[in-house]
Amino acid sequence: MKTRLIGSAVVALVVCGAAGLLRAAEDPPAWAYNIAPAPAPGAPPAQAVPDEGTARRLVGAGSAFTLTEIRNAFGPADWYPGDHPLMPDIVAHGRRPDVRACSLCHYPNGKGRPENAGVAGLPVEYFRQTMADFKMGLRKSAEPRKANTNTMIAIARGMTDEDVTAAAEYFGSMKWTSWIRVVEAERVPKTRSQGGMFLVVEGHETEPIGRRIIETPEDAERTELLRDPRGGFIAYVPVGSVKRGEALVKTGGNGRTERCGVCHGADLKGLGPVPPLAGRSPSYLMRQLYDIQQGARHGVWAELMAPAVARLTNDDMLAISAYLSSLAP
Ligand code: HEC
Ligand code: HEC
Repeated sequence: MKTRLIGSAVVALVVCGAAGLLRAAEDPPAWAYNIAPAPAPGAPPAQAVPDEGTARRLVGAGSAFTLTEIRNAFGPADWYPGDHPLMPDIVAHGRRPDVRACSLCHYPNGKGRPENAGVAGLPVEYFRQTMADFKMGLRKSAEPRKANTNTMIAIARGMTDEDVTAAAEYFGSMKWTSWIRVVEAERVPKTRSQGGMFLVVEGHETEPIGRRIIETPEDAERTELLRDPRGGFIAYVPVGSVKRGEALVKTGGNGRTERCGVCHGADLKGLGPVPPLAGRSPSYLMRQLYDIQQGARHGVWAELMAPAVARLTNDDMLAISAYLSSLAP
């Protein structure tokens, strides 16, 4: 009896180990995908702040812009033209009807926001590969309600090879610099979900962090309303998660995962075509780990990642994301 039990345990382990996808999937981590709750029955849907035509300003910016100019999907405001090289047309304006300007969501400096992706400093070869994956349906979100990933797919489909190369070389020419402050905390400011991002609600109320990372702008108005590409983020992470993540990343956690530095570089700043991870958005990193684990992101290169994520729990991936984010890029 005892040997039979041990036998089936071994079989179960082998099955789980060989195909991580067979293990009972945990639900997508809600904090990372940040889908806004549906409005209460009868309540009007959330509206964008209307444009009253006022010229808005940011400290140190030479020009003022209206909200309509700031949100223009085919040529959004460029607050700080001196912060980046001259944008190729596809980055600055995109192309109608489907290719919205990259600079709208990823900003002219490629910093991006928690709900999309930081694209500055990515290796050109990786950038081109991942755009091809979006195009061919090999890179989707594991959370089908994440609408902007579907928008990104439509954008990739509308681009020519020349467009992709121009965007890849432009964003790849800029360095990724630190703009996310990782803070371990038991309690966090109360937030609401808007446009895929957490915004602190008025009233200085706090709540327990739980098993979440709460990534929120340093200044909600500058980031959410004005799309300030210099306005950074705070990422509140559970106490102890940075250290736990560090152990998994550096040692592989006794076979739970692989040592990430082997492929991503000892400093996790990327190695050849393998993308950099240090100092990137923890919400973004978490979504990628989960998407790859669940097979929603399954391009040829993602196969190399499969053994690293197969046995990780959501909590492991949270800790890894907290640690990677805390590193100086
Ligand atoms: C409407 C907003 C939006 C626009 C406009 C946009 N993207 Fe994206 N982009 C996204 C989202 C959302 C993701 C994926 C986030 C996820 O699934 O976690 C993404 C991801 C990416 C990635 C993957 C980054 C990585 O590290 O793998 C690249 C590369 C990229 N976009 C390039 C572009 C280019 C080039 C353009 C302009 C032609 C563009 N994007 C325009 C929203 C946008
Ligand atoms: C055997 C090589 C290898 C190992 C080991 C490895 N990775 Fe990767 N990783 C890759 C490759 C290649 C890609 C690009 C995948 C793609 O294009 O779909 C990638 C992509 C990623 C991405 C998505 C990056 C982006 O910009 O979207 C994350 C996050 C990531 N790896 C995290 C990790 C972590 C954390 C570990 C360790 C626990 C790890 N990787 C171990 C090779 C590896």
